[in-house]
Amino acid sequence: MWFGTFRLRPRNGLLPAIRLVLLACCACGFALIAVGFADAPANDAGAKPAEPPAVVDYSRHIRPILSNNCFKCHGPDEKERKGGLRLDLGEAATKPADSGSAAIVPGRPSESALVARITATAADELMPPPHTNKKLTPHEIELLQQWIKQGADYKLHWSYVKPRRPALPVVHNAGWVRTGIDHFILQRLEQARLKPAPEADRITLIRRLTLDLTGLPPTREDVDQFVNDAALDAYDKVVDRLLASPQFGERMAQEWLDLARYGDTNGYENDSDRAIWKYRDWVIDAFNRNMSFDQFTIEQIAGDLLPDATPEQRTATGFSRNVTYKRRRRGRPGRIPGQICCRPHEHDGQHLSGDDDGVRRMPRPQI
Ligand code: HEC
Repeated sequence: MWFGTFRLRPRNGLLPAIRLVLLACCACGFALIAVGFADAPANDAGAKPAEPPAVVDYSRHIRPILSNNCFKCHGPDEKERKGGLRLDLGEAATKPADSGSAAIVPGRPSESALVARITATAADELMPPPHTNKKLTPHEIELLQQWIKQGADYKLHWSYVKPRRPALPVVHNAGWVRTGIDHFILQRLEQARLKPAPEADRITLIRRLTLDLTGLPPTREDVDQFVNDAALDAYDKVVDRLLASPQFGERMAQEWLDLARYGDTNGYENDSDRAIWKYRDWVIDAFNRNMSFDQFTIEQIAGDLLPDATPEQRTATGFSRNVTYKRRRRGRPGRIPGQICCRPHEHDGQHLSGDDDGVRRMPRPQI
């Protein structure tokens, strides 16, 4: 968000009152987002947030607490780091900090400086320091203690963990399951003491399926064909047909283009068009060709740097142009407030640092 450059000029004919309402709406939006985020970890922790979960998970329970309350002074940013203590990496957090003692001694909360500091009664000992106006809740303190007791496992973020096929969960109503995924769904339903809904009729089924995979309703002919197809693989055939249709790529691209901030205009209050639809078509095509995710990522970030880059690979880098920007007007330089983060700098992500070669070599957006 770019409040710094967000201006509603009287020339646009907007009355001050309307401006106020617009700003209030933005503020409300932020408040709602903030509430959503604040809610997430608590909900994740289970229905009763007062009871710590049996196994405390770093990504789910601990990282949000440390990130909201500690990383500002004990995180990746070396310049901001206090007390010689870094809490976002297990290796660093278990080493002696400036005082000589370790913040975390896995398995031993009573010997961990972290626990002493978050439960301290003296104001000059308490963490986070009272002047930050941040305060851990008793539940958060309990979670941190439990986590250290259980070994303070800094599990890697799931995106760095190689997927492994898990064992199928055991379910009571085994007669209901048909595929492996059904086991997982049913186990969760049974945990919540819910019963599966009855199977949808064929008309409903093909409507859901078609909307889901193409974003469009089925035609009357599609429905008739499916309803009258007695073959065992009738459903599979519909799925295959929809996956092969060009609309499948459009439907999938819709989600990605939102995340990539695609827009047909420059995104400012005095908006003007931008011609970037070729990039949009590249994304659609990539989905329809079932391009692998690593290739999809590489081409968008640095397709132009690939050896013998094709025009398509260069087009993919349109990804970096999805920033809001102002055209140069009256001799003043253009403005790119949504600047993509491609300079070397410390990131709040595990084992990605500014020294990482990949980060340094990322191109700056060219617009
Ligand atoms: C606004 C900055 C700030 C925040 C936020 C903050 N700390 Fe600190 N922390 C400090 C400073 C400054 C010191 C060094 C002075 C001291 O020991 O009190 C310190 C020291 C510590 C130490 C002792 C390090 C040593 O030398 O042994 C621990 C443990 C600690 N903090 C834990 C935490 C935890 C856990 C959180 C979050 C719940 C947190 N801190 C949040 C500023 C901060």
